Amino acid sequence: MEKRYLLAPGPTAIPPEVLLKMAEPIIHHRNPLFEEVLEEVRENLKYLFGSKNEVLIFASSGTGAMESAVTNTLSPGDKAICIRSGKFGERWANICKAYGVETINIDLPWGEELDVADVEKALKGNPDCKAVYMQATETSTGAMFPVKEVAGIVKNYPDTILVVDGITGIGVFELPQDEWHIDVLVGGSQKALMLPPGLSFAGVSDKAWEFNKKSKLPKFYFNWAKELTNLQKNQTNFTPAISLIIGLRESLKMIKAEGLENVYRRIDGLARATREGAKALGLKIFAKNPSPAVTAICAPEGIDGQAIYKTLWKKYGVTGAGGQDQLKGKIFRIATLGYADKYDVITAISALEFTLRDLGYKFEMGAGVAKAVDVLKDM
Ligand SMILES: Cc1ncc(COP(=O)(O)O)c(C=O)c1O
Repeated sequence: MEKRYLLAPGPTAIPPEVLLKMAEPIIHHRNPLFEEVLEEVRENLKYLFGSKNEVLIFASSGTGAMESAVTNTLSPGDKAICIRSGKFGERWANICKAYGVETINIDLPWGEELDVADVEKALKGNPDCKAVYMQATETSTGAMFPVKEVAGIVKNYPDTILVVDGITGIGVFELPQDEWHIDVLVGGSQKALMLPPGLSFAGVSDKAWEFNKKSKLPKFYFNWAKELTNLQKNQTNFTPAISLIIGLRESLKMIKAEGLENVYRRIDGLARATREGAKALGLKIFAKNPSPAVTAICAPEGIDGQAIYKTLWKKYGVTGAGGQDQLKGKIFRIATLGYADKYDVITAISALEFTLRDLGYKFEMGAGVAKAVDVLKDM
């Protein structure tokens, strides 16, 4: 028998309550039954995003909402600043390029901390930049970026908006959109929302809606203004991902019942236990400022990170993630966002110990689990 544990930074495990709701016979999206679902989802998304404004919902993976954040706010020939320190930071610049938006890139070595003074410097040097793009968590490196501090700078530039990829941040740690002045906050269903992939979200500030009125980049499927008009009537512009939105109603209900503060505390504790457990085995954490969403752990000298990831998965049933691009073979990742609890961490660290032993790494067997349990006991 093989029991599997999904501890990847997306897709994440889905609670049975959510799975069961999504398995119910489908309803029609122009029926009052679905309007009721949307009404509740709209309210609870505002709670999750910390915004008085509507959160737009799209049937796409997260990148769709990222693309919409560019096409719905900018015009051809505009300039933007992209903070790049991993695969997803690069994605912002690639989307801009595809639409003819010139980018000024703040390039940090992967895993390094962002110095917010660099953002201020880039803005001062390029006052015509219309947007700053960044990640809350750069999933490829496990690094967390100082959204609050960057937002505190960008809010003083009336002609610039801050666009945050919160795909691995929303529902993981504090990201209150209105309070922090995040102009566009992008999310995806397959992370802390505990759903399958297929929904993306964009929370839009009043400032970003003003940009939308002037934006001239082409848009058709991802048209914010049309989605907003429909959403306010509990409708969608096109056929929505009905079953996923029904699942979303349930997962948002669960998040609300636990309370966002408690969700953040739980995930933070699980990530701390993961980091401490790994360190107790003599391993290093890759990111200077690690995110609670996902822990990127450096493969020890002489051991291939991909072999760790693959052994965890093939032999011990634990699906984490390997390294991507320049980090392939150098790191492996274990996620703690979404539907995760203490036993997931203990499972992951003990599977890691079995794996490392198989791969010939020398360490004290049990030391990682003991340390993780020690951190978890006070949660
Ligand atoms: C931080 C971040 N941004 C963007 C994406 C891209 O999202 P998707 O693959 O859903 O399009 C991901 C996906 O893993 C991500 O982790």
